[in-house]
Amino acid sequence: MSTDPPLPPPASPRGGGARRRQCVAAVAAAAAACLAPLAVLLAVLVLAPSLLPRLLLRPHHVAPYVASAELRLLAFDAAASAVAYNLSATLRFDNPSGLYTWRCTGLRAAPSYAGQRLGDATPLPGLTRRGAGARDARAVAWAGTQRVPPGRRARAVVAALARDRAVGWYTVKVAVATVQNGVESDFACLLSFPAAAVARNGSAAAVFDGGRCVDAVLGEI
Ligand SMILES: *[C@@H]1O[C@H](CO)[C@@H](O)[C@H](O)[C@H]1NC(C)=O
Ligand SMILES: *[C@@H]1O[C@H](CO)[C@@H](O)[C@H](O)[C@H]1NC(C)=O
Repeated sequence: MSTDPPLPPPASPRGGGARRRQCVAAVAAAAAACLAPLAVLLAVLVLAPSLLPRLLLRPHHVAPYVASAELRLLAFDAAASAVAYNLSATLRFDNPSGLYTWRCTGLRAAPSYAGQRLGDATPLPGLTRRGAGARDARAVAWAGTQRVPPGRRARAVVAALARDRAVGWYTVKVAVATVQNGVESDFACLLSFPAAAVARNGSAAAVFDGGRCVDAVLGEI
């Protein structure tokens, strides 16, 4: 005795299909409504560990201030394809908070001109401060000759020198790297020196009155 395999159920009529699609759409909408807050929650959980320390540590994050700077020499020697430079700056750090001890380590500063780094970053002694209004400063000087690869890089430096001389101001960038209470923070300081005050032989100094440094992209130094 054999029984025929059961027939597949008859295809649902059109109305059933439409109802099922509506149902699926409703379930999908409900799921999306439930999942959206879940996705936000997940995003917060994933991002919080990296964002929170930044937000919480921001109050301890001190941008250096260039209290003063002097430029004595900035010239390009075409024969040697090198920039001769001599400048100095005083970097000041104002502690914004009286509640916490602020610790700055890994302090390094490096000048660059027209995208060309001038020498190696100079390491500076760290700072530790507690107390509102406490401030500390570090003096740094850079001098020497920086070889520039002939070609595009050298042309960029020569063009920048000509342009700055015509405008009347040499703009030197100083990159400052710090680790503040364990968090890396890099800064860019733009120093402007009256070009006319810089003697070709380094006998006179152009003075920069001071200015705040801004946050720089991490790892730029
Ligand atoms: C840079 O300038 C200072 C101040 O004029 C001078 O004492 C120093 O010798 C100069 N450094 C170099 C390498 O020329
Ligand atoms: C450097 O140049 C200035 C003029 O720009 C001149 O007065 C001075 O005597 C020069 N100094 C030296 C050491 O050559």
